[in-house]
Amino acid sequence: MLSWDEFDKEDAAEPAKGANAGHASEAAMDKLDSAGGAAALEARAVSANDSDAIARAKAALDKLDVAEGLAELEGSAARVAVDEKRMINCRADLNQLVPFKYDWAWQKYLDGCANHWMPQEVNMTTDIALWKDPEGLTDDERRIVLRNLGFFSTADSLVANNLVLAVYRLITNPECRQYILRQAFEEAIHTHAYQYCIESLGMDEGEIFNMYHEIPSVAKKAAWGLKYTRSISDPKFETGTVETDKELLRNLIAYYCVLEGIFFYCGFTQILSMGRRNKMTGVAEQFQYILRDESMHLNFGIDVINQIKIENPHLWDAEMKEEATQMILQGTQLEIEYARDTMPRGVLGMNAAMMEDYLKFIANRRLSQIGLKEEYPGTTNPFPWMSEIMDLKKEKNFFETRVIEYQTGGALSWD
Ligand SMILES: [Fe+2]
Ligand SMILES: [Fe+2]
Repeated sequence: MLSWDEFDKEDAAEPAKGANAGHASEAAMDKLDSAGGAAALEARAVSANDSDAIARAKAALDKLDVAEGLAELEGSAARVAVDEKRMINCRADLNQLVPFKYDWAWQKYLDGCANHWMPQEVNMTTDIALWKDPEGLTDDERRIVLRNLGFFSTADSLVANNLVLAVYRLITNPECRQYILRQAFEEAIHTHAYQYCIESLGMDEGEIFNMYHEIPSVAKKAAWGLKYTRSISDPKFETGTVETDKELLRNLIAYYCVLEGIFFYCGFTQILSMGRRNKMTGVAEQFQYILRDESMHLNFGIDVINQIKIENPHLWDAEMKEEATQMILQGTQLEIEYARDTMPRGVLGMNAAMMEDYLKFIANRRLSQIGLKEEYPGTTNPFPWMSEIMDLKKEKNFFETRVIEYQTGGALSWD
């Protein structure tokens, strides 16, 4: 732990006086400002002790034009009023985090941080023994583990790249950007978790990480996602017209509603079903933590999409609604094909037909979450235990021990 005791001694000689200590008057603040400015300038003066290099560094700073330096920043130079904040095409200064407009985004950032976890904390010993035992798993079960590690080991990198290289720049709100940064780190942890499973189980890393080029049911999902990031990843891409704003909206629907909201669900269900049957419990625990993070990513994305719709109703026209519906239906179809490929026969108390029902149930939810009509009426959830696992995140004590470990272990002491 760090302690600041030693550093505080000198300052302690000047205690704050009176009831208004800490609320310096404006005149007093102005006086302090000019004294501070003079002191800073004095520090710039070249002294006899300065080497040539130091003198040159000081002289270079004399030429620094503050106005020119800050002019390149996004947004205006004024203090930010909450009404100026907008999800896209905002003109207010994006470096000023507060005042918050979207409290839900900040809350999700805080919740994400409180749920921090690392892959190495999960015990993989029984998984390693089971995987290496020739009698440990059936061929169908092995296929499920291999295919899912193959899909997920690159899928989270696709999501992270889309966030960092495309979405972050175009979402013009600092509290949402703060969450996006947290999400990006979580995607790195997820890729780390898959790598950790692959390494622990002694799998052929080249085969698993290249699966998205080699196995059609995996490749199609990756290719479908990449199609929606191509134009907005171009550094010259700018929003601000109806067509470019719609292009960003399409990307958000593709990544949040389809990739994270549909493409992950067959694999999550299969691996968690394995864990419920006491097989590959370490891998299943990793997937459970990831699912908890992913359901927050999805909820954040839905909120962003709906907020963009509220602020820009002209974008959400009949054409866009039809396009969004088609995207979700295409994604559902690809995930059904993935379910068939990963489960050619019944396994783990489930089969491809049940998974198809589950995916249609999920697709209905995604459609209604962004205000679209459900396309698979009357579908019910054949895996109610999946909702129970996801709902566990709402219970405060679910990850309490882990959270407390981080909060005490990583805390700084300021006394
Ligand atoms: Fe992820
Ligand atoms: Fe995610």
